[in-house]
Amino acid sequence: MQHPCFVDRVWLLLLLLLHGPVYTRANNEGDALYAFRQALLDPSQVLQSWDPSLVNPCTWFHVTCNAKNNVLRVDLGNAMLSGNLVPQLGQLKDLQYLELYSNNISGIIPPELGNLTNLVSLDLYQNKLCGPIPEELGNLELLRFLRLNNNSLTGQIPMSLTRISGLQELDLSNNNLSGEVPTNGSFSRFTPASFSGNPDLCGAAVGKQCPNGPPLSPPPPVWPPP
Ligand SMILES: *[C@@H]1O[C@H](CO)[C@@H](O)[C@H](O)[C@H]1NC(C)=O
Ligand SMILES: *[C@@H]1O[C@H](CO)[C@@H](O)[C@H](O)[C@H]1NC(C)=O
Ligand SMILES: *[C@@H]1O[C@H](CO)[C@@H](O)[C@H](O)[C@H]1NC(C)=O
Ligand SMILES: *[C@@H]1O[C@H](CO)[C@@H](O)[C@H](O)[C@H]1NC(C)=O
Ligand SMILES: *[C@@H]1O[C@H](CO)[C@@H](O)[C@H](O)[C@H]1NC(C)=O
Repeated sequence: MQHPCFVDRVWLLLLLLLHGPVYTRANNEGDALYAFRQALLDPSQVLQSWDPSLVNPCTWFHVTCNAKNNVLRVDLGNAMLSGNLVPQLGQLKDLQYLELYSNNISGIIPPELGNLTNLVSLDLYQNKLCGPIPEELGNLELLRFLRLNNNSLTGQIPMSLTRISGLQELDLSNNNLSGEVPTNGSFSRFTPASFSGNPDLCGAAVGKQCPNGPPLSPPPPVWPPP
C-alpha cells in the first residue's frame, strides 16, 4: 500500500499542472485563499464565487471579513472538498475560525498554520490528513478549540500544545498518533475521550503503561497482609 502522503503530492502536482501558475489581482489574503482553491477539487462548486480579480475576498461565499477587510472566518465544513491544505493559509493574520471539517482533504497540516496567532478555532476533523501534528500549532496562544479527530495523523502529540493556556476543547481521537500523552498544562483538563482510537498512545492520560516509561501509579499497599 502506498503511503497516503505520497499520493497527495502526486495530486498536488497534477492540480498545479492543470491550473498553471497563479497571476491574480486580489490582495494578499485573496491570493492566499485562491491558492487554496487551486489546491482543491470542488465537485459541488462551493468555491465558484472565489474570484481572484476582485479587490478583496470579503464578498466570496464561505469567507467572512472584519471591519479592516481582513479575513476573520473560513467556513467550509461538509463541502465535499478534496485536495490539500496550502502553506499560504498561514498568511490570514486576523483569521479566528478555520472550519474545514467533514471533507476529504488529504496531505499534511502545513506548519505555517502556526502563524495564525489570532486563531480561536481550528476544525480539521473528519478528513484524510496525514503526517504529524505540527509543533508550531503551540504558537496559537488564543486557540480554544482544536479538533483534529478522524484523520490519519501520525507521530507524537507535540508538547507545545500544553502551553495553549485557554484551550477548552481538544479532540485528537481516531488517528494513528503514538507515544506518551502529555498531562501537564492545558492537558490537565482533558479526558481519555480526547485521545481514544489511537492504539499506539500511552501514559496516564490513556491509562496505558508506556513501553519504557515509569509505572502509571505506585502499586497499591497490600492490606490486610496475606
Ligand atoms: C469522500 O470520498 C469518498 C470516495 O472518494 C466519497 O464516497 C465520500 O462521500 C466523500 N466524503 C465527503 C465528505 O466528501
Ligand atoms: C510562517 O511559518 C513558517 C513555518 O512555521 C515560518 O518559516 C515563516 O517564517 C512564517 N512566516 C511568517 C510571515 O511569519
Ligand atoms: C470518527 O471515527 C469513529 C471510529 O471510526 C466513528 O465511530 C465516528 O463516528 C467518527 N466521527 C465522526 C465525527 O465522523
Ligand atoms: C499506524 O502507524 C503504524 C506505524 O507507526 C503502522 O504500522 C500502522 O499500519 C498504522 N495504522 C493505521 C491504521 O494507519
Ligand atoms: C509540560 O512538561 C514538559 C516537560 O515534560 C515541558 O516541556 C512543557 O513546557 C510543560 N508544559 C507546561 C504548560 O508547563
